Amino acid sequence: MMFDKSAQPGREDPATPGALHVAVIMDGNGRWAQNRGWPRLVGHRKGAERVRKLVEACPDLGIRYLTLYAFSTENWKRSTEEVLGLMTLFARYIRREADRMKREGVRLRFIGDRTRLDDDLQALIRWIEAETAENDRVHLSVALNYGGRDEIVRATRAMVQDVAAGTLSAEQISDATISRYLDTRDLPDPDLVVRTSGETRVSNFLLWQAAYAEYVFTPTLWPDFTPATMGTILKDFAVRERRFGGVKT
Ligand code: FPP
Repeated sequence: MMFDKSAQPGREDPATPGALHVAVIMDGNGRWAQNRGWPRLVGHRKGAERVRKLVEACPDLGIRYLTLYAFSTENWKRSTEEVLGLMTLFARYIRREADRMKREGVRLRFIGDRTRLDDDLQALIRWIEAETAENDRVHLSVALNYGGRDEIVRATRAMVQDVAAGTLSAEQISDATISRYLDTRDLPDPDLVVRTSGETRVSNFLLWQAAYAEYVFTPTLWPDFTPATMGTILKDFAVRERRFGGVKT
């Protein structure tokens, strides 16, 4: 059975050039470093460089929305050293990339439960979101302390509170209402979800939003992932979409 994807709520027509929403589960940083006998954090640092290069290449690749899974609700179970190292890396990325993002028209948002992050990082997040709020060329969203189920739980709580307050009624709740209570309320649904490093799990990423997305799993480890790797994936995706259109008409 074929669906008219463009009719899905919150979804831009995937055929619109340049309006693609690509989400990425950036996996394999640890293995990349360990393969070389280096600490895992070196892999994360290289991963952050790959993020910068990919964001820069988004306009050429036709990606308008890029959503990256940087830290899951489960990642707190890692060693204190790795968790602190990652948090430091996120803060440094925001500080170092702020000017470039402003210059290149990148709007940076964060999704996930930020209340568990340390106060300085929360302040930095609020600052960069405000600084880049007017940008519209590339919409970069970073998932930090994010879990799809956790997001749905938080959205449900907020809806129940609004029902109790009388500003929402049970009958009013539709597909679109739920989308509006999620962290991604300002984003279209992803067209494509890419996972690197050969793992073929969804791992609690964008569970609601990716209902109609295509999935691509590549063996490339995230620190080896270049704009050219993404270009190859997108070419294959375009062929799939064309075939899809062909069957539909
Ligand atoms: C998964 O690889 C990757 C992470 C948990 C962290 C992702 C973070 C970055 C790429 C750093 C920079 C990001 C931004 C947005 C600035 P893994 O450690 O699970 O790898 P493994 O499966 O090989 O152990």
